Amino acid sequence: MQANGGVGDQDKYRFTRVFGPGTPQESLYEETALPMVKGLFDGQNGLIFAYGPTNSGKTFTIQGDKGEKAGILPRSLSTVFNEVDERNANSQEDWTVWVTFMEIYNENVYDLLDVPPDKTKNEPRKVCKLKEHNGQVHIKGLRELQVRNLEEAKQVLRYGARHRQVAETMMNDVSSRSHSVFNIKLVPNRGSETDPTEPSQVYSKLAIVDLAGSERALKTKATGERLKEASNINVSLMNLGRCLEALRWNQINPNRVAHVVPFRHSKLTRIFQDHFLNASKMVMIVAANPNPSDFDEARQALTYGAIAKEI
Ligand SMILES: Nc1ncnc2c1ncn2[C@@H]1O[C@H](COP(=O)(O)OP(=O)(O)OP(=O)(O)O)[C@@H](O)[C@H]1O
Ligand SMILES: [Mg+2]
Repeated sequence: MQANGGVGDQDKYRFTRVFGPGTPQESLYEETALPMVKGLFDGQNGLIFAYGPTNSGKTFTIQGDKGEKAGILPRSLSTVFNEVDERNANSQEDWTVWVTFMEIYNENVYDLLDVPPDKTKNEPRKVCKLKEHNGQVHIKGLRELQVRNLEEAKQVLRYGARHRQVAETMMNDVSSRSHSVFNIKLVPNRGSETDPTEPSQVYSKLAIVDLAGSERALKTKATGERLKEASNINVSLMNLGRCLEALRWNQINPNRVAHVVPFRHSKLTRIFQDHFLNASKMVMIVAANPNPSDFDEARQALTYGAIAKEI
């Protein structure tokens, strides 16, 4: 990457794939998420992140728009139901699909599928507490919804996306102020005994994460609420970076005393602790804006993403 304006700075980064600005959503999906969605049917857990500066296209990548512009999330649901319908119809298999949709906003976890509080009564939003049991982090009160077909799944997605914290900033007029996490679980049907909250029943799961944008408060001219959001966003992204670095260090230094991975220092890393520790497949999509004025942010995002690539 070369900075314009005579800076002459040049860094090289290594990624599995690089996609240009005109890449159709379908191709991006097929080369990033599709293998992981298929892996669900082999019992392989997965984690997909969209990471990058504000206004670089993360939400567009994950959610997208109607028709051909649909992002990774609706496309993943479509693949899951094609596969489930085919398997349930043609064989002895009987799969159920469960989803959760949450956001982490100012270091609190909120259920995006919960009925929103009545603003006229000044009701606060219900915060979901994290509980740890047998090394598994459980999110108390998070709704697990069974979706029976693609249409139901898309309704759930639309409902949750509407309740996400979004605000207009200097950089992006639909800026995500929270990290959103959509979980898809594949659970064999046990009739009324089917329980997606019981880890031993879950055959596989995939989390699709649209991170809030990393940004510099100065650049977005953030003050008040926006500034508080920005610092919380940066703290959890920084901690995700620290966890990735520690995991990487432990991986390349197997004979030395392992570095402590600071999962517990932010909600984002705590809820993915079991994915990181139990060999889930991980894809990090790094979005970068080619605009020269966003050079520093793009460089920072690429450096961060390049660490993830090594793990
Ligand atoms: N590849 C693309 N094609 C067309 N429009 C795009 C593309 N990528 C992004 N956009 C548009 O650019 C704007 C910013 O993108 P988006 O909201 O996805 O950024 P973001 O990285 O999620 O930012 P934030 O961190 O602030 O949430 C949106 O209006 C989006 O629709
Ligand atoms: Mg966004």
